[in-house]
Amino acid sequence: KRPAGAPDKALARKVTKVGVVGAGLMASQLALLFARRLEVPVVLTDLDRERLDKGVGYVRAEVDKLLAKGRVNGDQANRLKGLVSGSLTKDAFADADFVIEAVFEDLKVKKQVFAEVEAVVGPECVLATNTSSLSVSAMASGLRHPERVVGFHFFNPVAVLPLLEIVRGERTDDATLATAFATGKALKKSCVLVKDAPAFVVNRLLTRFMGEVIGAVDEGTPVETADHALDGLGLPMSPFALLQLVGPAVALHVAETLHEAFPARYKVSENLANLVKAGKPGVFAPDFTIDPEARQIFEGS
Ligand code: 3HC
Repeated sequence: KRPAGAPDKALARKVTKVGVVGAGLMASQLALLFARRLEVPVVLTDLDRERLDKGVGYVRAEVDKLLAKGRVNGDQANRLKGLVSGSLTKDAFADADFVIEAVFEDLKVKKQVFAEVEAVVGPECVLATNTSSLSVSAMASGLRHPERVVGFHFFNPVAVLPLLEIVRGERTDDATLATAFATGKALKKSCVLVKDAPAFVVNRLLTRFMGEVIGAVDEGTPVETADHALDGLGLPMSPFALLQLVGPAVALHVAETLHEAFPARYKVSENLANLVKAGKPGVFAPDFTIDPEARQIFEGS
C-alpha cells in the first residue's frame, strides 16, 4: 500500500551510490544503514581526517557487532565494510544519485553544503537533509535544482527506530519524493509524509514532552525525581536518558527553533542552554549516574 501522500512509485529513480555529508554519530549511523539495506557504495565526507576516520571506524565497529550477534556472516561483514569509505572532498559524490547531509544544524552551513554538492553531482541526484527542525524549502532556495531537495529525518538509534519523516519542500518534485519513499522502504523504515513546518511533527511532541520534564527541574524538582517520575508508564527510556541520546545541543536547537516559531507554546530552558554552553555532552556521567556538573547547572546547588 502506498503511504499517505506518496506519489506514484513508478516515478522513483534507482539509487546506485550514496553520499553522506558529515561523519558524526548520525551520519555514520546513516552510512551503515544505507550500505546494509541498499547494498550500494556509500561515501562519507567530513572536514578533517580525524572525524572521517572516526565515522568510518564507527561503521566498522558496528559491523563487527552485527557479525558477533550472527546478524551477518563473515562474507557479508567484509562486503559491508568494503561498501563504506571516507573522502575528504565531495568529488567522490560525482556519480552518486542520493546524497544526504547530517552536518551541524545551521541553515547557512547546510545551504553551503548543498551548493557544494550540487556543483559536483548530476541534476537528478536527490539532495536529502536529516535536519531535525530547519526548513527544507529554505535549504533548497538558491540551488539550481531545488526540486531535488527533500527532508529525510531519522530517529536515534537509526538502526533500531523504524520511523522516517519524509518532508516535501515547496519545490520538491514528484520524482524526488517517489525516490525518497522507495529509498525509505528499501531501508525498511516506516515512512510518513510531513509538512515542511518547524520541527515537522515528531520533534514538536518530543520537545514539548522533554521541555515539560526539564521545566519541572528548572522549577526545583531534583533531576532524578523528574527523570524517574514517568517510569511506571512503560516508556522505552526516561526523559533525561532521551536527552542524553539526542544530545543537549540538538535538543536545544530544536527547542529554539520551535520557540521562535511558536513562542507561546515552547519555552527554552535556560539551564539546558547553560549545559550546552558548558560543553557538556549529556546529563549523565559515563557510569550513567547524574553528572555532578550537570546537576549543579540544573539544580543550582
Ligand atoms: N545504536 C545501535 N543499536 C542500538 C543502540 C545504538 N545507539 N542502542 C540500542 N541499540 C540496539 C541494541 O544493540 C539492541 O539490539 P539487538 O536486539 O540486536 O541486541 C536493541 O537496540 C535493543 O537495545 P537494548 O536491549 O540495549 O535496550 P532497549 O530495549 O532499552 O532499547 C532503545 C534501547 C531502542 C534506545 C529504546 O530505549 C528506545 O527506543 N528509546 C527511545 C528512543 C527515542 O525516542 N529516540 C528518538 C529520539 S529523537 C531523534 O532522534 C530526532 C532528532 O531529530 C532529535
